[in-house]
Amino acid sequence: LGQPRLVVVSNRIADPRKTAAGGLAVALADVLNSTGGLWFGWSGKIDDEAPQGEGKVHVTQAGSVKLATVDLCRADHDSYYLGYANGVLWPVFHYRLDLADFDAGYIAGYRRVNQLFAKKLMPLLRPDDIIWVHDYHLIPLAAELRALGCTQRIGFFLHIPLPPPLILAAIPGHDWLIRALFAYDLVGFQSQADLSHFAGYVTAEAHAQQVEEHRWRAFGRTLEANAFPIGLDVEEFTTLTHAPEGRDMYERMRSEYSRRKLLVGVDRLDYSKGLPQRMRAFRHLLDKYPEARNSATLVQIASPSREDVEAYNDILKEMESLCGSINGNFGELDWMPVRYLHRTVARARLPGLYRASRVGLVTPLRDGMNLVAKEFVVAQNPEDPGVLVLSRFAGAAEQMREALLVNPYDTEGTAAAIQLALSMPLEERRERHEHLMKTIRRQDVHWWCQSFLAALEKAQAEVKGTP
Ligand code: G6P
Repeated sequence: LGQPRLVVVSNRIADPRKTAAGGLAVALADVLNSTGGLWFGWSGKIDDEAPQGEGKVHVTQAGSVKLATVDLCRADHDSYYLGYANGVLWPVFHYRLDLADFDAGYIAGYRRVNQLFAKKLMPLLRPDDIIWVHDYHLIPLAAELRALGCTQRIGFFLHIPLPPPLILAAIPGHDWLIRALFAYDLVGFQSQADLSHFAGYVTAEAHAQQVEEHRWRAFGRTLEANAFPIGLDVEEFTTLTHAPEGRDMYERMRSEYSRRKLLVGVDRLDYSKGLPQRMRAFRHLLDKYPEARNSATLVQIASPSREDVEAYNDILKEMESLCGSINGNFGELDWMPVRYLHRTVARARLPGLYRASRVGLVTPLRDGMNLVAKEFVVAQNPEDPGVLVLSRFAGAAEQMREALLVNPYDTEGTAAAIQLALSMPLEERRERHEHLMKTIRRQDVHWWCQSFLAALEKAQAEVKGTP
């Protein structure tokens, strides 16, 4: 008997043979490439002909991995992806109730697309498959699969934070969401903080009973929940660092900035990333520490993201105005403090950019994990490494204690940490880098995947009716 086949389900999928755009897609491509299996998700296409709750399925083979994708009609895409997933769950899970758009119509679309995914996935499943569902787009997928008779083991991993119980409870329909969670056998979170929010929430809102250290019982079902901080494919990123494109980027940045220290930030243009706060901290640095003037340049890449979701419009204008005013007020004829790029930069070039930088700025207001923090560290030259300035509100902060941890809401404190990073002696930089590398290597993407899947195989939920 061979290993059970792994079936991965996520909203976005990518060809695992290609160097993808980063984040979730990269992590999953690594996992599937090594185990073989089926990857199911949205095709990225909107089919204006399709009726609601329907969509064509496309099946292709990508090396050892089978890809199955489904189209969505406009109404389903808008209410499921733009509406409920990114207009409700994303802001609330990032503690931003003020940005949530609780339109009553969204939840029906979210449910319809989860039902559509379940309906199209069912015929592709084999009896001994092990199913791994990813992220906030697909919370009710297991419940919909169970309703169609699926008895395979199903695990869920949340890539984004889980907020404290009373914030979660503000979502209309939150009771339905928790109930749906109990259709999984295993639920995984990025951090201990997220796990403790889960425990508090199911206890208070679903009267769940904790039957073992990591097991909760409610709605006639038992599930296992634990923290599995996602890691990097360290080898892949190291290879990318030394590949021609990475090296070329490194050389170009080094020669362009030979007289100056480079600071780097790479983020999606998202309000959770704390970009305006970072710019204000940088402005404060230039203002308070004159030695930074003319000697430090911040390269900030903000890749366009979810531009059809309303809450993303303001952040774009705010960034343009902040970067413009910093350059206007502090710039010299031969030096601009900020190089701001509102575009995507090829993943192959990022390690070179990281390696050429003295300081990496990863200062989200809230983040599930943030893999840029880990990538920045891995790309460094261990003989002369740069320093990571990391928000204490990123999941990565639980693991990366040797970074300079900051509160991104504290402009002065963040500016002081950046100044400390710019002036840190070589020996201390090396020591911190070495410690960080140890953790990144120990809990890499293979560790993440294996520990989640081992826990899922072990989780023997008692199925007593569907929730
Ligand atoms: C985060 C989410 C992923 C998502 C990615 C890009 O990392 O956790 O699920 O795929 O952002 O966002 P997008 O909306 O473009 O898929």
